[in-house]
Amino acid sequence: MAYIDSILKESRVFYPSHEFSRNAHIKSMAEYSKIYKKSIEKPEAFWAEKAEQLEWFRKWDIVLRNDMGFFKWFEGGYLNACYNCLDRIIKSGKRDKIAFIWEPETGESEKYTYGQLLKEVCKFANALKKSGIKKGDVVEMYLPMIPELPISMLACARIGSIHSVVFAGFSSDALKDRVQDSKAELLITADGSFRNGKIIPLKDNADAALKDCPTIRKVIVVKRANNKVEMTNERDYWWHELIGSKDVSDVCEPESMHSEDSLFILYTSGTTGKSKGILHTQAGYLLFAYQTFKWIFDVKENDIYFCTADIGWITGHSYIVYGPLSNGATVVMYEGSPTFPKPDRFWRIIEKHKATIFYTAPTAIRALAKEGDDLPNNCNLNSLRLLGTVGEPINPEAWMWYYNVVGKKRCPIVDTWWQTETGGILITPLPGATPLKPGSAAKPFFGIVADVLREDGSKANANEGGYLVIKNPWPGMLRTIWNDPQRYRHTYFEKFGVYLTGDSAKIDEDGYFWIMGRIDDVIKVAGHRIGSAEVESSLVSHEAVAEAAVASFPHEIKGQAIYAFVVLKKNFKKSEELKEKLKQHVAQHVGPIAKPDKIQFADDLPKTRSGKIMRRILKAIAEGSKGYGNIMTLAEPSIVEALAKNRVA
Ligand code: WTA
Repeated sequence: MAYIDSILKESRVFYPSHEFSRNAHIKSMAEYSKIYKKSIEKPEAFWAEKAEQLEWFRKWDIVLRNDMGFFKWFEGGYLNACYNCLDRIIKSGKRDKIAFIWEPETGESEKYTYGQLLKEVCKFANALKKSGIKKGDVVEMYLPMIPELPISMLACARIGSIHSVVFAGFSSDALKDRVQDSKAELLITADGSFRNGKIIPLKDNADAALKDCPTIRKVIVVKRANNKVEMTNERDYWWHELIGSKDVSDVCEPESMHSEDSLFILYTSGTTGKSKGILHTQAGYLLFAYQTFKWIFDVKENDIYFCTADIGWITGHSYIVYGPLSNGATVVMYEGSPTFPKPDRFWRIIEKHKATIFYTAPTAIRALAKEGDDLPNNCNLNSLRLLGTVGEPINPEAWMWYYNVVGKKRCPIVDTWWQTETGGILITPLPGATPLKPGSAAKPFFGIVADVLREDGSKANANEGGYLVIKNPWPGMLRTIWNDPQRYRHTYFEKFGVYLTGDSAKIDEDGYFWIMGRIDDVIKVAGHRIGSAEVESSLVSHEAVAEAAVASFPHEIKGQAIYAFVVLKKNFKKSEELKEKLKQHVAQHVGPIAKPDKIQFADDLPKTRSGKIMRRILKAIAEGSKGYGNIMTLAEPSIVEALAKNRVA
């Protein structure tokens, strides 16, 4: 992969300015090393001290316990995540500080102070209670990037119900699978969502999904797009009517939640076709989101923090909602896309709200860099002081453009490595301390012991690629997979007995981590996590397809894109038209983000004698490389040459 090669040859180093370091929470590598040492020698003392910053209804009895491979943090303690994000901040004198600035695709931006946000959250929390939702019930959200999304998450947290947000770009089938697995009782959606000037009919999608979701008793619909929708009697209710009713109070007592009660489920792709419901609990997750946000984004009282992620992904959960709010920060959230109406949307938003911290994904940086320097140069970006990236490896060229053109050589870049499962950032520079190497996520955060192992479990040498693992528990880690503890153990702990990330990486001679990408059958397309198996089972569900296998290939903007090998059933003819139909089929079945960029019709797939598809061969073909390795173990070695000859360029 060309850009992974370029990452690994990178040798430039960039230092934070003296001024940045002087004012930063963590000011030097010496300070980092000192705290890091303490944090891993005495992790329980370290995290207990940090946990004092939250407000507890009852203090914990024990910091950490390993319950046969399931980790428990702060048992015996009680708190409320919503209370810690709103009431605690208001009590510290910030009732009138702006919590959210919402920048919609059409219409005026809106601002919510912490005081206003608390009232909205309480009203909706009371509406949820009136709808029969209790502590421990699951509430599903299928919403665009509108304020009602964080409001409904915080309302759930307030009354102790478990939220499960499904990215609004997913199809109705994907929504159905997730609702069925979570057994949610209530769904919150909208009449429509805006993207690129078009309206996406979310409520229609939800209606289609709910035909097969008997657990859902009620649906609450936000009026966003004035889109005509069908409301089912006794099931569907308008958000504004529910909270507009006079007997809905704007005061709601927070539920006292045990540290290990569930906070939310977020589905993510794994290596099988069924997505995994990653479970996060109350105290450990909140503490980890709080502490990582504070130190990694080096947040100060006057910062305006703009994160471009969608709340449908973990980045939005931890670094639009829980991390920033628990720090009392001002967060900009936006609706729409980076390139509509013009590819200067981000730069305009930064200019308009004088954003000081900006957090986005490498795929967006690559797409925007391609538009040239004029768009960012024509906006006033002088308010920026810190930049961040997440979601996939950033190639040094994109890093340099971000640093030079967006950050004007003044702003450190935090390349933050983490996962849905980790709850928060695990490997990252600290902006006032860490010398930056473009393309490297630098070093482990406090309390994190990360390493790179060989297949046999031994430690890899410096600069030798291997499996990225985390050797110790941390407060923000997933607790289990919803309804599937066996899969949790198997996926993350079976191979080495320590947490397996699914990524490959190397550590250089300075102890810097270089993440190389997924080592399993998960593909990062434009930063979105797609399971090969999900795309394959969607292809196979089409009447024309007998067998399918997908691999990834490097893509200039998306980082990775999907290449599908498809064997047709006997009576179907290969045609460009059929390829297009199959792409649409996947878009409908999984979501537009999972659509293969290339489809190759094949007469057969390379399999071992025992019938296992040899994925590394397909990957090599998709990438246009001849490095298949040994093909003699195949049942039919000649297939490889035929496949390579007909490769879709
Ligand atoms: C990838 C996103 C390189 C990685 C927060 C990981 C990264 C997967 C980085 C998790 C980074 C995330 N550099 N790769 N800075 N950050 N990744 O669950 O492959 O959507 O395993 O969480 O994204 O994706 P997820």
